[in-house]
Amino acid sequence: MGSMGDWPEPVVCVQSLSESGNHVIPDQYIKPPPERPSTCNLTDTNIPIIDLAGLVDSREETMSRILEACREWGFFQLVNHGVKTELVDRVREIWREFFHEPMDVKKKYANSPKTYEGFGSRLGVEKGAILDWSDYYYLNYHPFGHTKWPADPPYLRDVMEEYSKEILRLGEVLLKVFSRNLGLKEDCLQNAFGGKDAGACLRANYYPKCPQPDLTLGLSSHSDPGGMTFLLPDMRVSGLQIRKDDQWITVKPEPNGIIVNIGDQLQVLSNAIYKSVEHRVVVNPDEERVSLAYFYNPRNDMLIQPVSELVTSNRPALYPPMTFEEYRRFIRTKGPKGKLQVDSLKSQN
Ligand code: OGA
Ligand code: NI
Repeated sequence: MGSMGDWPEPVVCVQSLSESGNHVIPDQYIKPPPERPSTCNLTDTNIPIIDLAGLVDSREETMSRILEACREWGFFQLVNHGVKTELVDRVREIWREFFHEPMDVKKKYANSPKTYEGFGSRLGVEKGAILDWSDYYYLNYHPFGHTKWPADPPYLRDVMEEYSKEILRLGEVLLKVFSRNLGLKEDCLQNAFGGKDAGACLRANYYPKCPQPDLTLGLSSHSDPGGMTFLLPDMRVSGLQIRKDDQWITVKPEPNGIIVNIGDQLQVLSNAIYKSVEHRVVVNPDEERVSLAYFYNPRNDMLIQPVSELVTSNRPALYPPMTFEEYRRFIRTKGPKGKLQVDSLKSQN
């Protein structure tokens, strides 16, 4: 394993591999057979759709639909979330524009595994690891202060600042709902996240066309390590799959929907009542795909453990306390893995 200071081997940009015109992908991107995209999708199923306007019009029903989504699926699509369609569309297009900038412009923002901020093409520092077919841009937005914004496209920052405010608003709304649904005080989970200092960071993902999509993945199976994720999928091409009962379901994006999923920290806080579900991305031979994952997280130094009201003699604490920072360091060393990281940390009592 390499150190956290730098990458263990030279980083290859996947876009360059894709544009090389080679019909064969390098060995380092070929997944072992059990991890390759399979064909056994339940194509007619989709994740639950939650109409957020229902919190006003039909509160009880909406609350219980959200509860079921958090317990059974760990994923849902939010519609009528109050974020303007024009803003959402601009956010999507702006990242597509960024990834279409010349390579030397993007390389100015090349990242390192120390903070991951900037433009990158690998997650994890294990030498010789099998890699994913994607490039990305990662940045911390809140509460760090010195965000590593790309200078181009010039309006990227303004658009993202506006969108970020909406995400922070939605994060607060949902944490209230998630708290109430667990029988807790409305501000319980927000306080566990560090109140107003809850963290927000994002990863724009770029999945270039791939000549051998059956052999690789755009993003390996993983669960999100943080609190919850707001994902803007590409409306032109699908690719996100979630695991349900040992099958993979391809998510069909709703127009103007934002996909929300529970991360590992909410699984821990809820003592596993809420599920942080594995998901992955498959790639496409004819179409590139761009998505934006916005992570709403506990403050780094918050000690995360099952909320005391949810620990009983019948249901002891399933996880040991750990700060989000410690947990994140662990994940960042290993990279995404095909197994829920928190489950391997379950305490033995
Ligand atoms: C992620 C993620 C899914 C996608 O960035 O954590 O799961 O569709 N992305 O890009
Ligand atoms: Ni994810």
